[in-house]
Amino acid sequence: PFGSIHAVLEALIVFWVLSPKFWIFSPSFAPNLTLPELARALGACSTPGCRAVLGDPPPVPPALSQDQWVLLTRLLHRDAVVLAPDGSTVALGPLLTGIEVGQKRVSGWPFPTFEPPIDPLYAVTITEALGTSFLSARGSDGATLGPSGCWDDVDDPQNYTLLGPSSPIPDAVANGAMDGVLLGTRAAQAPIPLADLLRGYYGMGNSTEQGRPRSSYRQRDFGVLTGPEKLEQEVEAMLRVLRVLPPTRELLQDVGPEEAAAIAGRAARDFTQLYVECPPIVPRCMWGARPYRGTPRALILPLESVFIHHTFIPSTPCHSFRSCSHAMRSMQSFHQDTRGWDDIGYSFVVGSDGYLYQGRGWHWVGAHTKGYNSKGYGVGYVGNFTSTLPDPDTIALVRDQLLPCAVSTGRLHHNYTLRGHRQMGHTDCPGNSLFQEIETWSGFKVSTGIGGIYKAWRLGCMVQRKGWMWLRMLMVASSLPCSEDQHRGSWAGG
Ligand SMILES: *[C@@H]1O[C@H](CO)[C@@H](O)[C@H](O)[C@H]1NC(C)=O
Ligand SMILES: *[C@@H]1O[C@H](CO)[C@@H](O)[C@H](O)[C@H]1NC(C)=O
Ligand SMILES: *[C@@H]1O[C@H](CO)[C@@H](O)[C@H](O)[C@H]1NC(C)=O
Ligand SMILES: *[C@@H]1O[C@H](CO)[C@@H](O)[C@H](O)[C@H]1NC(C)=O
Ligand SMILES: *[C@@H]1O[C@H](CO)[C@@H](O)[C@H](O)[C@H]1NC(C)=O
Repeated sequence: PFGSIHAVLEALIVFWVLSPKFWIFSPSFAPNLTLPELARALGACSTPGCRAVLGDPPPVPPALSQDQWVLLTRLLHRDAVVLAPDGSTVALGPLLTGIEVGQKRVSGWPFPTFEPPIDPLYAVTITEALGTSFLSARGSDGATLGPSGCWDDVDDPQNYTLLGPSSPIPDAVANGAMDGVLLGTRAAQAPIPLADLLRGYYGMGNSTEQGRPRSSYRQRDFGVLTGPEKLEQEVEAMLRVLRVLPPTRELLQDVGPEEAAAIAGRAARDFTQLYVECPPIVPRCMWGARPYRGTPRALILPLESVFIHHTFIPSTPCHSFRSCSHAMRSMQSFHQDTRGWDDIGYSFVVGSDGYLYQGRGWHWVGAHTKGYNSKGYGVGYVGNFTSTLPDPDTIALVRDQLLPCAVSTGRLHHNYTLRGHRQMGHTDCPGNSLFQEIETWSGFKVSTGIGGIYKAWRLGCMVQRKGWMWLRMLMVASSLPCSEDQHRGSWAGG
């Protein structure tokens, strides 16, 4: 672990000068090495498959002082992870080796050929790790992917702790590998200084930049670039290469070609489901959640319903990890301290920064939709969507990722029903605009029960407001309680 990407770049810039020839960083004390090569000298590419592609690591530059050696090994060791400005955690090993492959491609470096052919970019970032992870989990119930983890302090990150037993590919390694593939592909197109590549992607240039950093699109971009078929094909080819490399020959001794193909298929499917189809969810410890008060009640899965909310307050969408985390903490305080609930009410909260934030999560009963909290997940969009909509990517995050992921992972029934909060209680939530939007989503169900009564009540109130006398005579609308504050606000009864 080593702090944030900013800290890493700053530390590296102390040691590096820009090499005009290669348009990449080169250390002043080791002019023949690029930064990724130095990372390799310090252990970033020490596995058999990676070494077969990029060769043996270069020698550690003799001019390295003890202090430099300590700092650089900490920075560039294959297990080093850093916090990106979008709140995700990235392993530097696969990130830097991916970039090195891109840089070597653009300079015409002759990669060794393999039979079957493998794509060096995938070999050094993800396919060797996937192949060996799923190979060694064969016949056991050992974890193959994940888990996520948390930093001790997101403003001054020092120590990173995994949220459970580690697999060979924790989330940080998966993120670093996907970034390695994306940035390696970019680096292979045209020479670009490494600092510009990293700054541009992680969005830590200067404050003139607008919008989400590119890194918050990592899963979508990786999915577009690498379909599951390509991933499966590359993992299978990698396993066949590992079968003949001396250090890994034994590992594949009793694995026939069909079994290897099945392992590759499972690896590609599971990776794609977890990191491409399922949206990234920021764990509670990352946004600074307080503990749950009391004893949570478990949901009985799969659930049959989803309820869409807007938070109303905060009324503006959050566009960064910092502002979304702040919104989460303030909603949790409001729900716990003012409302007296056990925890933040929603199951998940949707930021406009490309991330979902874990509220009660997949497994615990929430406090979002009175009377239906154990029947469905409550998903709240940060913002007031009475007359505006979330941006299209943020709409798609729930419609095209969270909901299909909930079904494919068995947490939501395949013929679930989706409703707006207003259909289940006296509220305008999720706002007129967002409600009109979700009416077009698959699974949307028109009102029944209390929602139907609410619709009749709203119609009655409209009649009263507009003074349609002839209708009024037909309905006893004039006696309905229609004051604004009775149906405003989105806070659900928990
Ligand atoms: C660095 O490269 C130069 C020429 O390109 C060569 O003369 C020198 O020996 C190299 N140094 C090392 C340590 O490889
Ligand atoms: C990080 O972890 C190490 C080893 O567990 C410990 O010595 C150090 O004090 C921790 N640093 C912080 C800031 O907590
Ligand atoms: C900010 O970024 C723009 C575009 O990337 C660049 O032209 C400008 O020089 C940068 N300014 C500073 C102060 O780095
Ligand atoms: C929510 O948006 C509506 C329509 O734009 C506006 O009238 C209302 O004041 C907003 N409420 C809050 C709390 O921002
Ligand atoms: C959902 O599908 C199951 C069978 O898979 C069926 O029993 C159930 O009635 C369906 N529910 C709805 C609401 O259509």
